[in-house]
Amino acid sequence: MRPLATGRGNGAADLTVMPETFYVTTPIYYVNAKPHIGHAYTTLVADSLVKFQEQRNVDGFFLTGTDEHGVNIERAAEARGIPVKQHADAIVEEFKAAFARLGVQYDLWIRTTDPYHEAAVQKLWRILQERGYIYKGHYEGWFCGSCNEFKDVEDKSENPICPVHERPLDRLAEESYFFKLSEMQERLLDLYRDHPEFVKPDVRRNEVISFVQGGLKDLSISRVSVKWGVPVPGDPAHTIYVWFDALANYITALGWGNDHYTGFDRYWPALHLVGKDILRFHAVYWPAFLMAAGIQLPRTVFVHGMLLRGGQKMGKTLGNAIQLETLHRHFSNDMIRYFLLREVAFGQDGEITYEAIIDRVNSDLADGLGNLASRTLTMIKNYFSGLAPRPNPQTAAFEEDLPSAIDAVKSAFDAEFNAMSFSRALETAWRGIARVDKYITDRQPWKLAKPGSGAAAELYSVLATAYESLRHLVLLVSPVLPDTTRDIWKQMGLKGEPLKINPNAATWGEPLGVSKIGTISPAFPKLNKEKIMTEIERETAPAPQTPAVEAPPKAEVGEQPASAAVPQHITIEDFVKVELRVATVLEAERAPKSDKLLRLMVDVGEPQPRQILAGIAEHYSPEQMIGRKIIVVANLAPRKLRGLESNGMLLAASVGEEGRPVLATFTEDVANGARLK
Ligand code: MSP
Repeated sequence: MRPLATGRGNGAADLTVMPETFYVTTPIYYVNAKPHIGHAYTTLVADSLVKFQEQRNVDGFFLTGTDEHGVNIERAAEARGIPVKQHADAIVEEFKAAFARLGVQYDLWIRTTDPYHEAAVQKLWRILQERGYIYKGHYEGWFCGSCNEFKDVEDKSENPICPVHERPLDRLAEESYFFKLSEMQERLLDLYRDHPEFVKPDVRRNEVISFVQGGLKDLSISRVSVKWGVPVPGDPAHTIYVWFDALANYITALGWGNDHYTGFDRYWPALHLVGKDILRFHAVYWPAFLMAAGIQLPRTVFVHGMLLRGGQKMGKTLGNAIQLETLHRHFSNDMIRYFLLREVAFGQDGEITYEAIIDRVNSDLADGLGNLASRTLTMIKNYFSGLAPRPNPQTAAFEEDLPSAIDAVKSAFDAEFNAMSFSRALETAWRGIARVDKYITDRQPWKLAKPGSGAAAELYSVLATAYESLRHLVLLVSPVLPDTTRDIWKQMGLKGEPLKINPNAATWGEPLGVSKIGTISPAFPKLNKEKIMTEIERETAPAPQTPAVEAPPKAEVGEQPASAAVPQHITIEDFVKVELRVATVLEAERAPKSDKLLRLMVDVGEPQPRQILAGIAEHYSPEQMIGRKIIVVANLAPRKLRGLESNGMLLAASVGEEGRPVLATFTEDVANGARLK
């Protein structure tokens, strides 16, 4: 009974007996950037978890969605010049498409702009107010729009910088409602002590305990300067603090405080999956709000680490995230899912590289599971006309320890998966694969199959044992590899879908009817590392700079190079040194002997047009350029490129991982030569 389901679900929920339930959530994602692998990570883990639970007949509910209020979203829409809701709608579609492409099947996508959610957030507010936990005061301090967090800054300069986002903080001095967080300290410490499972892993729990022991200040939970938010009930000049609004999604989605759904009693309490960057909100503020409101607390906040690149968190702030499009171009969904769950120990940070993905795919998927499936099935096809041999009392003599080894793998896998040690669970399953492989190699069925070998009974037994082991292992890993296990299952001639068969109910040698091997094709083709890496390097290399750009002078020995991450301020005097002017392209052609350069003649409002060479030929044709309004740096020293003089540089944004140039222009008519300042 999941009226909200998006097509997921195995129909296993038998409502005559109340099954155990499992409610898993991901953080809801900000709609100020495109989805990247960091967002996909939490979501894929949640998806694998709920698939795992449902395969074991547990009734799961998987919630994900988007966090759409707050000053940063307001600003993102403003920068695009479109209404905030329209901006949010577009990003939501991008997130949904990205997750659908990864095979993610959630039960509900919550948006904090959903009216049922907004109404329930106001209800939660009213309850806290009635219970005396909210009062009106005045807030003065610093706020980071990207963290959506008030900051105690050590930086005493006039314009302090957010240490996380390395961007200037906003100064706030306004009337604000406060939540009496300071009163919750003892109750929170009791919670962490009495329920060690509330924050996992323990290292995060300890972090939270020492934070709370350090003392809690009351929390500002409303803003008058932010319009894009849920109005405070009875005082609409204020909007509710985005984190108060966002955290409430976990209960409003199930129908708490509204009647859009009636799942709260059935599914709450939740297992929240969150990145360590948002630990405090989930492990301190969220239980504090719930305790104050008298609502049952979540079961566990499970905190995972960050995916890193070059040792730094991947994400929009540093612009270093691996883009999903690049991954999809070279790897299947199952490769991505397997890699993320296997490579990085859940809970810890993990460095991600394309080389590591290729290595994992080749060693574990192509040479491991893929090879075991194809060698077993090919031999059955060749030696038994494709009819799968089944274990029987006679085959037992040749099974070695395989039935018990596979059983042990199954229970260890379940224990590790339940403990959220996905990497260890998969390692265990792959030990099972290696065991079966070794069995085949030791028994050498190809020799047993030689005419006159007199080993027909052994050949039958060996392949029956290998096939049966493979069947159990395929069931086991299907929550992580849903697509390929479905394919292998079909190639094995088996009925049904692996995700809908509980591996713990599947017994060794159980009757299956006749299984006829289907068309065999490799589940995971071996990847050519060199070729893929060359392609990825080409795709992700920054586009050539407009050649008129002067290379920055190299730092002298001993001189500190400016860190790319730290914003460098310039004075207005520095800025006015750069003469930016509006121009129109009069002529355009490809520069001789160059794939990258266009030669442009541009009118910059001077008596004579100027010649500019621009490295945009791979992205703009000469025809697209003629008549176009552009912006040029008019006082750049001339330089020669391919024997032609360039007198200026045109402005373009560098977009996407590949740094595609997108030309800056005006939407209104502006005279050539007009100066930008
Ligand atoms: N909107 C808040 C969450 C509100 S939940 C009530 C938010 N959104 S976010 O879009 O910035 O990030 C959400 C989550 O994305 C992170 O906590 C983390 O789970 C995931 N990740 C984003 N970048 C990541 C990595 N580089 N690595 C791993 N996970 C990352 O915070």
